[in-house]
Amino acid sequence: MKKALVCSVCGHILLTKNIPDVCPSCCSGTKIFKLFDEKEDALHTKEDVAVAGETEKKHLPVIKVVDMENGYKNISVTVGELEHPMIKEHFISKICIYIDDEFVSMTVLTKDLKPETGIKVKTDSKNISAVAHCNIHGSWITSI
Ligand SMILES: [Fe+2]
Repeated sequence: MKKALVCSVCGHILLTKNIPDVCPSCCSGTKIFKLFDEKEDALHTKEDVAVAGETEKKHLPVIKVVDMENGYKNISVTVGELEHPMIKEHFISKICIYIDDEFVSMTVLTKDLKPETGIKVKTDSKNISAVAHCNIHGSWITSI
């Protein structure tokens, strides 16, 4: 497990300690009340594999990065090594991408979509993370 700051309204996860004025996901303001709480068990990681077994293989994001022209990178994320189910009772509800621990994008998913996303972004960084949110098994992070 990995600790992180978690929005008390929507569950959005911050990987940085820099708390924004509003939550990047639900737009709730941080000036009215303490919006982000640090939770010790906010994120499951690949280190949880020994405990989770096969479950982990369906939840850990798989990140692929391809360098493009003009400094862009094509970042694609699938969930997971074995594809996670996408049914009404059990699905990946969103995938967030972070670069240098800063939030970059969020893809909201419904049960009829494949558990994947992709962005094209101009960056020199090689520090890329993705967080997949399962409606039953919580949030799972992969960092490369
Ligand atoms: Fe799940």
